[in-house]
Amino acid sequence: MRMKRGLVIKITSLSFLALIIYSFVPVIVLYFQQVPPALSNEAAVKKLAGKTGDRFEFIVMGDNHSGLIFNDSAALKLARRINREDRFRKLPVDFVMIAGDLTLRGSGWDYAIFIKLCSRIKYPVISSLGNHDDDGANAELFKNIAGEAEFSFVNRNSYFIVIDNSAGEITNEQFAWLEEELKKSMPYQHRFVIAHKPPFSPYQQSWYRPELGSWPLSLMKLCERYNVDMIFSGHEHMFKEQTFGKARYITTGGGGMLTHFPRQDGGFLHYVVVRVYGDYCDYEVRKIFPPLWEFLAYYMWKDIFYFLVDAIY
Ligand SMILES: [Fe+2]
Repeated sequence: MRMKRGLVIKITSLSFLALIIYSFVPVIVLYFQQVPPALSNEAAVKKLAGKTGDRFEFIVMGDNHSGLIFNDSAALKLARRINREDRFRKLPVDFVMIAGDLTLRGSGWDYAIFIKLCSRIKYPVISSLGNHDDDGANAELFKNIAGEAEFSFVNRNSYFIVIDNSAGEITNEQFAWLEEELKKSMPYQHRFVIAHKPPFSPYQQSWYRPELGSWPLSLMKLCERYNVDMIFSGHEHMFKEQTFGKARYITTGGGGMLTHFPRQDGGFLHYVVVRVYGDYCDYEVRKIFPPLWEFLAYYMWKDIFYFLVDAIY
């Protein structure tokens, strides 16, 4: 009987260990993968040409922060799940939008990992600039790999505008450009704006405080005036939806980066699936459980920490 119990414990432990190793292997394989040619935003947008019909999906995630093993392992898991989004063939998934902070520090190594990550996603990936993507001497890398930091494009019945507020500011010239773009977007049924830094602080207990500047309210009023459907941001490594008038502001910064926010407040790995259905659109948040090794190494302890904080205070 004792021998049997020992065997069960042994088999269970070995199975658990195998699962941990299994969850770790993909990121190691990623590191040994050759770096494929990068797909620029222009090339990704070209792939959208010729799509017809007014029903489709696109996916938004932010803050992959490629270049750190925790982030890369998590982002790979997200990529695998993203690739399964169209398995029920309800609506075609046209592309994936990254709401900035593609990389940890904007280095060549970080970008190489990011390019490999994108190559694992079967849909075209369109990238926007985050405040970590042009750190230091690597400011040109984003331009070389993805292209301009501000641009617009059309997909079916929708107009997309990417604005660069990675420095925590939107200048008068940028607002003038944005308004011109919004005017151009009026014949389309939907308008979506991507700005890495959210104009609201998505979490009070965080030191990100856009409320102290003047650009956030100007941006929100402009989006309201031109009937923007949704504004996507990252920067804060969490999920949050806020509204101003009719516009929905979605912070989606759970694309891989370790998040320190409590899980119940939005601090979880995720991406957002936006569904455009004629003149109607909505979204789903896809929460992703971390790779098992990463859960045991970090996320489990984060949950325990906040549990204890809640229990004690
Ligand atoms: Fe970030």
